[in-house]
Amino acid sequence: MLIAVCSLKGSPGVTTLATALGARWPAQENPIVVEVDPAGGDLMARFRLPDTPGLVSLAAAARGRGSADPDLLAQHSQLLSGGLRVVLGPVGAEQARAALAVLASGPSSPLRRAADHPGTTVIADCGRVDPDSPALAIIRSADAMLLIARPHDDELAHIALKLLTAQQWSRRPCFVLVGDGYPTAEVSQALRIPVMGRVPRDTKGAAVLCGLGTGRRGPDKSALGRAAAKIALNIYAHGHAPATPNGSRAQHLRLAVPGEPVSGVALQPLGPQTRNGATP
Ligand SMILES: Nc1ncnc2c1ncn2[C@@H]1O[C@H](COP(=O)(O)OP(=O)(O)OP(=O)(O)O)[C@@H](O)[C@H]1O
Ligand SMILES: [Mg+2]
Repeated sequence: MLIAVCSLKGSPGVTTLATALGARWPAQENPIVVEVDPAGGDLMARFRLPDTPGLVSLAAAARGRGSADPDLLAQHSQLLSGGLRVVLGPVGAEQARAALAVLASGPSSPLRRAADHPGTTVIADCGRVDPDSPALAIIRSADAMLLIARPHDDELAHIALKLLTAQQWSRRPCFVLVGDGYPTAEVSQALRIPVMGRVPRDTKGAAVLCGLGTGRRGPDKSALGRAAAKIALNIYAHGHAPATPNGSRAQHLRLAVPGEPVSGVALQPLGPQTRNGATP
């Protein structure tokens, strides 16, 4: 399975959630996180890892040998301290874009090849996306797109404007909210999109996923890690559900997520902002 994680505005915690999903992915599959953010990667600096192997060496290998080898991704990965396998994006945007130009070209990227391998899940950190993003080809080829946003007026206003376009990019557009702000059901109703999950604001949990803090409270102990585990299980379970006769697993996944119905809902202005998602 290939899962694209991205945002439309701000820095709501895409890399942190992609890492948390990888760290808490169901044990039946091997997850691998790939930093394909055209703005450059963060994990190399956060975890103080060498710059090779990574996305740049992967692109060079894909150019040289084609992308047919499903192990190519794993061969260019490194292990984070907790044991999660990652393909590190280069810090520089120019290098990241050059690598992406190679990886996103052709009928099938090394990410798609690896994701088609049974027992492998590829989680692609696509960063902040717009219609010109070089990561768009990867999102389009993904089995699901997780759109991450903080439920605040400014981010939601941008999402409301761009959502229709973003929904065209993916067979399974899913929405994940991060931190305090408007209640989940209100966001779901106003934007007419189911919200797959909500990740709490958890500074200590996020710090561990950014390579800081002691290992004592790893992603299996933090509130952020627990929320990521639920989302991972939801995606995993529905990604492996049998396809329905009249459609796809995509519809299955959308219907299965909590939130308001996606059709027949009048677009209401959002109510007053609340802390901790509580109704005033
Ligand atoms: N759930 C959370 N609770 C508290 N802090 C968080 C959470 N998620 C992320 N953060 C913090 O927010 C900062 C940005 O996170 P992250 O790098 O994941 O965002 P991003 O959306 O990938 O940003 P960019 O678009 O710049 O790549 C980091 O310092 C991270 O520790
Ligand atoms: Mg990021």
